[in-house]
Amino acid sequence: MRIKFCPSIMCMKMDDLKGQILKLEAAGIDRFHLDVMDGVFVPNFALGYEDVKSICRLSSKPTELHLMQSKTSDYIDFWADAGVDIIFVHPEADYHPALTIQKIRRRGVKPGIVINPGMSVDNVFELLRMVNYVIVMGVNPGFAGQIFFSSLGSKIQRLIELKKEFDFELELDGGCSTDIIKEYSRQGVDSFVLGNNGFFKENTSYSDTMKRLRVLSGDAVSSTVPNQPKIKILITDCDGTLTDGKIYMGENCEIMKAFNIKDGYALHEMLPAHEITPVIVTGRNSEIVITRAKELGIGEVYQGVSNKQKLIVELAQKYNCNTKEIAYIGDDMNDLGALSICGFKSCPADAVNEVRDACDYISPFSGGAGAVRDICEKVIKNNKTILI
Ligand code: DX5
Ligand code: ZN
Repeated sequence: MRIKFCPSIMCMKMDDLKGQILKLEAAGIDRFHLDVMDGVFVPNFALGYEDVKSICRLSSKPTELHLMQSKTSDYIDFWADAGVDIIFVHPEADYHPALTIQKIRRRGVKPGIVINPGMSVDNVFELLRMVNYVIVMGVNPGFAGQIFFSSLGSKIQRLIELKKEFDFELELDGGCSTDIIKEYSRQGVDSFVLGNNGFFKENTSYSDTMKRLRVLSGDAVSSTVPNQPKIKILITDCDGTLTDGKIYMGENCEIMKAFNIKDGYALHEMLPAHEITPVIVTGRNSEIVITRAKELGIGEVYQGVSNKQKLIVELAQKYNCNTKEIAYIGDDMNDLGALSICGFKSCPADAVNEVRDACDYISPFSGGAGAVRDICEKVIKNNKTILI
């Protein structure tokens, strides 16, 4: 299932509400997350009734209301009248949370519950069968920009298991940084609230951030390039892709680099088995690279290359193919030219932002930690779906 991303509107600049909503929708968000606070249940205030009503009217995407309010039960009709699609309540805010959930459902709105960091799954177990959505708070509710509690792993894991039995959508709210989204989307969390951490405080545009989030959460929307021909050559940079980019120096200036066995298997066994030629192109010069390439049976190794783009054009001529039939893996600024002309542009998770933004596919693995293996698998898989 595609991961759902729900920006928290209280973190957004409110001076141009309509413009911002349109921008977020164009960037590909899935739902609007609307935080309501009453100054009692949490020591803060956020959106009011008129804000919620305007957002519901302006938006063409579903809206989810997160009520951080005491005695929520008394206000369900009030909030349902604003036009929201989903209402999340904190069970401890009411004497009878099951009744609150019934009230929400009777208004034709989908109910959800929120589990605070200090509350266990056992406390809300019976409610799980009554709701469509469950939010796990990654922070104590009330304020944006806090850090995700590191102790929530087993609670989230248990809810991922319970999803199969009770059929609810599992969402994380608060402290959802890109690292948290990457980790938990892979484990089975369905949706994430985007606040200051992973979204509004990013330096990139809404659409660039969304593009990056889609890729790192494993939604391979951009990993298959439209009209992409089959890949015949896979070129990888060395430092920072085949290695972690570190150069280990001994006291006599001897240099060591660490390679990943899993990457080696992909280059030595998997690519040739699928008629893809592996090539190493690097800006540096090192005997270590020659030794490692020999070990892997890679005949095409180009070192000390200052213009990688030019070399790729020459390689395409040599192999009688188009540069669109070449996949490239790079991690730094000197790879941008090469990436720009290749058919499949990819990078490790820890590539610099400029490279990440230029890529069709960002591996969830870092350089030297399995990124090359992962990308080889992706290229092979894509090739299988292409008929010519
Ligand atoms: C916090 C709110 C969140 C918050 C998320 O109480 O429920 O929705 O706005 O913001 P970040 O991701 O910055 O914690
Ligand atoms: Zn919230």
